[in-house]
Amino acid sequence: MQKVKELYSGKAKSVFTTEDPDQMVLFFRNDTSAFDGKKIEQLDRKGAVNNQFNATIMQKLEEAGIPTHFEKLLSPQDSLVKKLDMIPLECVVRNISTGSLCRRLGVEEGLDLNPPTFELFLKNDELGDPMVNEYHAQSFGWATMDQIREMRDLTFRVNEVLKKLFADAGMLLVDYKLEFGLYKGKMVLGDEFTPDGCRLWDAETREKLDKDRFRQGLGNVVESYELVGHRLGMTFDYT
Ligand code: C5P
Repeated sequence: MQKVKELYSGKAKSVFTTEDPDQMVLFFRNDTSAFDGKKIEQLDRKGAVNNQFNATIMQKLEEAGIPTHFEKLLSPQDSLVKKLDMIPLECVVRNISTGSLCRRLGVEEGLDLNPPTFELFLKNDELGDPMVNEYHAQSFGWATMDQIREMRDLTFRVNEVLKKLFADAGMLLVDYKLEFGLYKGKMVLGDEFTPDGCRLWDAETREKLDKDRFRQGLGNVVESYELVGHRLGMTFDYT
């Protein structure tokens, strides 16, 4: 399947149409951004690593019965996906306290959250993706209550699958963000699951292995993403 026309260019990926109106190509660029695009850098190999990392995780989620938009890898940096009608909300699950949760609530970092929390954020860069609740989502027509329930249930099912996957490889899945959309009326996981959109800590040392390395200027960003992949048994093609 060939890329026809660039539809949209996000902070780290570009989206292309194909000859099939139901399918699109995601091109994972090397761009890495944080703080609503205020910090941007090009990191060698990141596009290829994230594209192939995402492909493996999406396939594992499909195997566990979670519907995703992923169809197949097309090249080191390109994937074919279903074209979704995106819901403009970000679904965040947190297993351990850190990040904006600690800033917002003044709670200590590193607390085990039992049960894990679930939060919704509006996808809106200009407003800095504000936190919203299910009533905002319904009142403004971003999603119905049934759709919110479905996204929440799927986001927690992803947690069960991925917490175990990372734990078996010596890592803690601290938190992550998912985005969903509708494909022919059905709720499907879209966007990506990569170390850009989750937090992963080494289970022994609690060393950060995710995009916090970039946010906090810790260095070895892509090397850490590769290490996470290798621990999960992935190999990466950079050709
Ligand atoms: O910043 P915060 O603590 O709210 O982030 C929670 C989780 O969601 C983190 O894993 C972060 O990487 C992810 N996230 C994201 N994209 C955003 C906001 C958060 O991937 N726009």
